Amino acid sequence: MANYEIHEHDILVIGAGGAGLRAAIEASAKGVSVGLVCKSLLGKAHTVMAEGGIAAALANVDSRDNWEVHFRDTMIGGKMLNNWRMAQIHAQEAPECVRELEQWGAVFDRTKEGKILQRAFGGHTYKRLCHVGDRTGLELIRTLQDKGVHQGIDVYMECTVTKILKDGDKVSGAFGYFREDGRYVLFKAKAIILATGGVGRSYLVTSNSWEYTGDGHALAYDAGADLIDMEFVQFHPTGMVWPPGVRGILVTEAVRGEGGILRNSKGERFMFKYLPEATRADYAADETEAKKWLEDTLSGRLKTEYKRPPELSTRDNVARAIYTEVKEGRGTEHGGVYLDISYQNAERVKKKLPSMYHQFKELADVDITQTPMEVGPTMHYIMGGIRVNADTAETRVPGLFAAGECSGGMHGSNRLGGNSLSDLIVFGRRAGRGAVDYTHKLGSAPQISESQITEAIEELEIPFKRQDGINPNDLVKELHTIMGTYVGIFREEKDLQTGIEKLEELKKKFKLVKANGTKVFNPGWHLCRDLKNMLISSEAIARSALSRKESRGAHSRLDYPKTDDSLGNENTSVSKDGETMKLEKTPLNKMPDDLKELFAKKEPAHA
Ligand code: FUM
Repeated sequence: MANYEIHEHDILVIGAGGAGLRAAIEASAKGVSVGLVCKSLLGKAHTVMAEGGIAAALANVDSRDNWEVHFRDTMIGGKMLNNWRMAQIHAQEAPECVRELEQWGAVFDRTKEGKILQRAFGGHTYKRLCHVGDRTGLELIRTLQDKGVHQGIDVYMECTVTKILKDGDKVSGAFGYFREDGRYVLFKAKAIILATGGVGRSYLVTSNSWEYTGDGHALAYDAGADLIDMEFVQFHPTGMVWPPGVRGILVTEAVRGEGGILRNSKGERFMFKYLPEATRADYAADETEAKKWLEDTLSGRLKTEYKRPPELSTRDNVARAIYTEVKEGRGTEHGGVYLDISYQNAERVKKKLPSMYHQFKELADVDITQTPMEVGPTMHYIMGGIRVNADTAETRVPGLFAAGECSGGMHGSNRLGGNSLSDLIVFGRRAGRGAVDYTHKLGSAPQISESQITEAIEELEIPFKRQDGINPNDLVKELHTIMGTYVGIFREEKDLQTGIEKLEELKKKFKLVKANGTKVFNPGWHLCRDLKNMLISSEAIARSALSRKESRGAHSRLDYPKTDDSLGNENTSVSKDGETMKLEKTPLNKMPDDLKELFAKKEPAHA
């Protein structure tokens, strides 16, 4: 019999970023036993890359704000493809979840009156992002980590889960290994919450670190859940472009929220010309008008009465604009554009953006208080993910839940900056509750058969058994080329078809992938496993992108440049059908009339 250690919990949470931690806290507060698995060390999560803030309609800075405007902004930003119920719950519960963080010790920047300070961000009508300088995600993780550890959650660090186990159709546990020495581990659990984050490592230029290989997406897919709207990949407009070793590292949107200006190599403030016709009226039309917003913001007056600068358009627009400027020859020496905040008082810049100041100083030898930054798009986030019930976060597999970036629906076709941190805590909490309710209703505990474990181990050990084989690093390089060349910011039919053909060839090569040495601290072996997940999520992205014959949000088709209203009421869904990926179009749930009416209101909506 194979050798593995066994741990037993009522609920197993896989992923320890904001959503996983919040889910674990909620579940353990309700008295059940909770295990929390992190692929790397506790506290290291992509959550920290949401630097500029957490969106919640607290109305501390602008009393006109409320959940309805936040809901509307989110839906308009997502081009109405969002699961409306998720967007509603998110907007309604975000303020309470932020206050809860405050009670648990999160240290936010403050207004003069001592309230949580809020700043402007793309697509948000009012100043809405609660923040801690440009380290908001870090503060959120620190707070949740403290709370979780003190609450007695069992944490399993540097552990990769490779299979969800089931008893009939119900979740019964998970199998995996510890990365340090390769020892196997079986988790018995009545319910599992996936909170594994995104898929960024399928792209070469990304703000995501090594952990983000679509693990939750692939685990859910293999277990029988469906993934929706995987074509919607968010390229954050501003990542570092130079030096090469740091290309893709995030430059927070807060730089633009604090007045940062984008210019091309000719010195032109190009964003004015890229504002979509439908929303042009909400933004400053020229430098003079944009200056009024800036003066208002710099003066410390909290409420901004002026039209917003074009740099605060939604991320999909800004990323496309930067990409186009560079492609048409108006880029900087290193293939980016300039983002300038150096015209502001140096002490203000250091106070508002301390991490950006140090990041550029230490990594690029650039003093952002004196010199513009060079920036370009970086793959940051995936809007698509595991389909969940909006209220409970349960997938279609009984006992399997998902929250945060690995789940789909909340952000539609494009996420607004700052809506990720609020999504994590709102739906992390919901998932924790949903899973506890499920375990309470469950009859007898599900069983795990030895044959499932044997199968999981055999799959893990195949790469060691091949005599000759392919180095997984070579396949990852090929994957990066495919995704960057054929499934990037702009897409078209023939490219997507070529991309899918190449992914099929890569899948065949993956069957020959080889690991050398032993299971003890072996990154090559780990990559063999990660690659499986990267291939599943990449195929889902490419096939979904080919099927959506329109441009919407972050999905830009050169051959279908317009948004097609007739396609605005269907999700793209992929699921496992034997060895093939089945793609279907499924109808969106209908929005109730009282919510529909919100879109007829007169306040500006920035998209
Ligand atoms: O730009 C940023 O600070 C990122 C925020 C987010 O992705 O929500």
